[in-house]
Amino acid sequence: MDKERIPLHIAIVMDGNGRWAAKRSLPRLAGHNAGMGVLKEIVKSCSSLGVGHLTVYAFSTENWKRPEDEVGGIFRILVAYVEKELAELHQNNVRVTVLGDYSALPREAVIKLDEALDRTKENTGLAFHIALNYGSRDEILQGVRSLATEVGEGRLRIEDIDAQKLSDHLYTRGIPDPDLVIRTSGEKRLSNFLLWQSAYSEFVFTDVYWPDFTPAHLCAAIEEYQGRSRRFGGVK
Ligand code: IPE
Ligand code: IPE
Ligand code: MG
Repeated sequence: MDKERIPLHIAIVMDGNGRWAAKRSLPRLAGHNAGMGVLKEIVKSCSSLGVGHLTVYAFSTENWKRPEDEVGGIFRILVAYVEKELAELHQNNVRVTVLGDYSALPREAVIKLDEALDRTKENTGLAFHIALNYGSRDEILQGVRSLATEVGEGRLRIEDIDAQKLSDHLYTRGIPDPDLVIRTSGEKRLSNFLLWQSAYSEFVFTDVYWPDFTPAHLCAAIEEYQGRSRRFGGVK
């Protein structure tokens, strides 16, 4: 791996918790629990590799379709993660943000997340973005509504709406587009993750289930990324 060419922004679809658990005849929540442990290690690795931004897909707008006890369990695990890790994240100069309308989450989760955002907001190290109740279509729709409101109120001219303007109205405003998107578990789809932002991202898919994903797998994905030729529509 070339330490001088670490991607500025890595985004990860942390998939396969359920199948990891099923393979071991464990309940799905055991998979989500194991997944949180892995997340801790990956955040640390990104920090020490000098990655600027790490975005993880933790709960999608579509994941509400799951059984109530799984949804509740995922949020309980999230609260426990923040409780356990916040001090260390802060110590490591990590800035935590949330992408998505997290006000719809259970109250304890909202409180814990607000605490994490507030405590780490001045940090200058890794920016760690947790996508929660996140869906790209939802994000783009609320951005379009907000632009339309500005036009309606005469604060914005239609001809001034460009790609940058829309970007500025998304949850990811101010965050550079992901250079590398990784999805674990063998699925090869985006599932409503960063559709607008990943227009020119490099994709790495691995069959490894998220709870089995290690810093070595992360490094392998970065190496694969470094071997790609990014042209952005131009010629090399
Ligand atoms: C990803 O693992 C975590 C969330 C979606 C919250 P899954 O729970 O989707 O695991 P599989 O895809 O069923 O194995
Ligand atoms: C995407 O995984 C969402 C997260 C990892 C949080 P899913 O497991 O929900 O995606 P699908 O249903 O397989 O497309
Ligand atoms: Mg899945």
